[in-house]
Amino acid sequence: MHMDGTVIVTGATGALGQALLKNALQRPETHTLLATTSYRASARATQLQQILDSYDKGQHASIVEVDLADQDSIHTFASDINSKVSAGKLPPIRALVLNAAFFFERNGLKFAGRDPRTGDPFEMHFLVNYLGNFLLSLLLLESMDRKRGRIVYVSSWAHDPSRRENKRFGPDKLSWNVEDLAHPVTSKLASDVSAEAMRRYGASKLALVTFMHALQQRLTETRDLDNIRIVGVDPGAMLHSNIAEKTSTFERFTMVPLIQLYTRIAQYINPNGMFRTVEKSAEDVLRAAFETTDPYLARDAYFDGNRPAETAVESKDLERQKELWQLSLLYVGLEERETALGPARCGTP
Ligand SMILES: NC(=O)c1ccc[n+]([C@@H]2O[C@H](COP(=O)([O-])OP(=O)(O)OC[C@H]3O[C@@H](n4cnc5c(N)ncnc54)[C@H](OP(=O)(O)O)[C@@H]3O)[C@@H](O)[C@H]2O)c1
Repeated sequence: MHMDGTVIVTGATGALGQALLKNALQRPETHTLLATTSYRASARATQLQQILDSYDKGQHASIVEVDLADQDSIHTFASDINSKVSAGKLPPIRALVLNAAFFFERNGLKFAGRDPRTGDPFEMHFLVNYLGNFLLSLLLLESMDRKRGRIVYVSSWAHDPSRRENKRFGPDKLSWNVEDLAHPVTSKLASDVSAEAMRRYGASKLALVTFMHALQQRLTETRDLDNIRIVGVDPGAMLHSNIAEKTSTFERFTMVPLIQLYTRIAQYINPNGMFRTVEKSAEDVLRAAFETTDPYLARDAYFDGNRPAETAVESKDLERQKELWQLSLLYVGLEERETALGPARCGTP
């Protein structure tokens, strides 16, 4: 068992996920690394296994399946970790890096899962990028390292409706309504399908950062969990091959190579600019997970790359946080007292 703790990275088969794993495997500590994928038999998971095998420390790293669109899969994954940590077979979680995300479907929205109240499926951006992370975070709280544990949420600039870059997607066409984000009425969806998908991707990340603030508040009020830190990181825009695959053939041979060239040059001039390499963003995310100097020690910290930043003003609205929290518990069929937050809360209800 490796006493430096367990590090879990979700979405490890993705472009940023693979960069995170390569970087984590080169760190001086001996962590037990758990790299997650939604599908163990995929080509990307095979590629990830080859990466793990190519590092000396690869034997401390393994690939584990968890599908964030499937609440049963999240429960199975979390209860396996929780029972191993409580039995002393796995060290407590030093860093839970929630990087996996679903985004940008050109052909419209996708739906999956089942609302336990009604049986209705959830919209996929909301389900994977927000609700899956909500459930996984709450279930794994009991296994977090009580002194040094951190939960790092990979956010996005797309979460903030007031940002200039988001205006072209028409953020005003999607108002904040949690029930509609979870279960949109398909007959009422806007006809600009790819912009609608981007708006919902952005809204799922807004839900994520809204939840982040509420969770940190609750942890701070909970005996024994009050040293666990929540950190959010916006990794900028990373135009890697998985994103390039989603562009048109014309864009793939013109705009994509130009932006990739610009990104390589811009990283030296303006490292936290809009376009970033996955290597730079992986460094930023892992710094948020492990750095023990200010400003990384602050509670509820948020970074744009490696620069302290603020989340959208909407995410700080306490009424929104409360409504989102309460509905989310219903969507995952969980009561707060069943989680590690339950028994020892000393703050407000
Ligand atoms: N690329 C950008 O420009 C950009 C900008 C801002 C923020 N971000 C954020 O950065 C993070 C990493 O993105 P990326 O660019 O590396 O994307 P990516 O290459 O597409 O990787 C995303 C990963 O998420 C995983 N994933 C998707 N659906 C899942 C599910 N249902 N259950 C479990 N895992 C699932 C996939 O893993 P499987 O293959 O195992 O399904 C995939 O490896 C995301 O949180 C994204 O929102 C990216």
